[in-house]
Amino acid sequence: MFLQKSYQVFNLKMNHIRTIKGGVNLKGKVKVPGDKSISHRALIIGSIAKGETTIEGFLHSEDPLSTADCLRKLGVKIPEIKKNEPFTISGLGLDGFKEPKEILNCGNSGTTMRLLMGLLAGQEGKNFILTGDISLNERPMGRVGKPLSLMGGKIFGREKGNKAPISIDGNKLKGCVIGTPVASAQVKSAILLAGLKASGTTSVIEPASSRDHTERMLKAFGADISIRGELGRNVVIKSGSDLIGQRILIPGDISSASFWMIAASIVPNSEVLIQNVGLNPTRTGILNVMDSMGCNYEILDKSTIAGEPIGSIKVKTSNNLRSFTIEGDILPKLIDEIPILTVAACFCNGVSEIKDAQELRVKETDRLKVMARQLQKFGAELTEKKDGLIINGQSKFHSAEVDSETDHRVAMSLAIASLLANGTSKIMRADAASVSYPTFWEELAKLTN
Ligand code: S3P
Repeated sequence: MFLQKSYQVFNLKMNHIRTIKGGVNLKGKVKVPGDKSISHRALIIGSIAKGETTIEGFLHSEDPLSTADCLRKLGVKIPEIKKNEPFTISGLGLDGFKEPKEILNCGNSGTTMRLLMGLLAGQEGKNFILTGDISLNERPMGRVGKPLSLMGGKIFGREKGNKAPISIDGNKLKGCVIGTPVASAQVKSAILLAGLKASGTTSVIEPASSRDHTERMLKAFGADISIRGELGRNVVIKSGSDLIGQRILIPGDISSASFWMIAASIVPNSEVLIQNVGLNPTRTGILNVMDSMGCNYEILDKSTIAGEPIGSIKVKTSNNLRSFTIEGDILPKLIDEIPILTVAACFCNGVSEIKDAQELRVKETDRLKVMARQLQKFGAELTEKKDGLIINGQSKFHSAEVDSETDHRVAMSLAIASLLANGTSKIMRADAASVSYPTFWEELAKLTN
């Protein structure tokens, strides 16, 4: 009799419950952990560089650790990554990946799966299989598979290649000009990574500019990459240059900082200094919204690390916040902040509106639906639209039992919402926060103490 080996292909979130008391205020300072997007890219680009790359400020959370795990299975020497400790990886160059004996498990991480699709599409003669957890295997992958196929990629998957598990037969790629229908940094980055292995020049044109960490990092490693066109929406990469290992210092993640930025603005009598916030202009849409709300904040200690602007943000409560509208080209600059901005809108004067946000429906959960469903449990008045939300401000929140529905940003947004509720609330599946911010609950306890 054979003992069959079975693969654990998804993580079921345990039902961790967090209890949050309303009516407290936030005081003190918090240093936000490393940027998730940059952490993934540091590992990936370091892996295909020649020589060593030392990474400092890496986000030690589930998503980037999934990327590390996949890269190890591809033969990259990545040491055990310890919290708050720099580490060094040895790059394999562009052709050094081995054909893995195991399935590459991307966990909950869309960035891991989509960037790896681009990275591996041009690995001629090798096969790769990528899978994820229940949520990731329902997310659209055709947005990456289709452009890669135009370059010669051979990508297969469920639902005509749109859903994982994904199988990639590495193939010869040719550079081409690709216009993407969605402004997605994951799609753009996958095409650029594929472009490193494609013949000639590859050009990506986006409908609006998405985060540009891949471009910045590839340039720093020596790639022949240039930004062109109106508002930098056209990125052109030419294959043939060697990437050389670097030292990367990763700034803090503004998407993680956003929970404290909004909490300190809406929770009465609060004052928080948020340190180590990445201020890359393709990520700072939330500051524009905070300006239109009339939030009380200032940016201090501005500097640049590893080609990325950073600073500290001091935020104090504002008692008279104005309602706001989010629409159009700003969406990619605050795409991950929509859940916490929805909470903010509940405490503004008047009606706020979020439009053009249909992308939220294909994130870790359908964030428009989930945020509406969960915030209504506190007594919030909001209406779900096809592409957004209409939110009535000046809500009075009562305590509630709410559920992250396994989504990290929903879990943390609901925690901040609970601070405004009258009484003690419970958040089910709160451990989802570990995907991007494992120390969130500790920091919340410190700031509300
Ligand atoms: C990311 C891009 C965004 C963002 C995600 C991280 C990245 O996704 O929502 O959390 O690291 O490139 P899309 O590319 O799907 O917009």
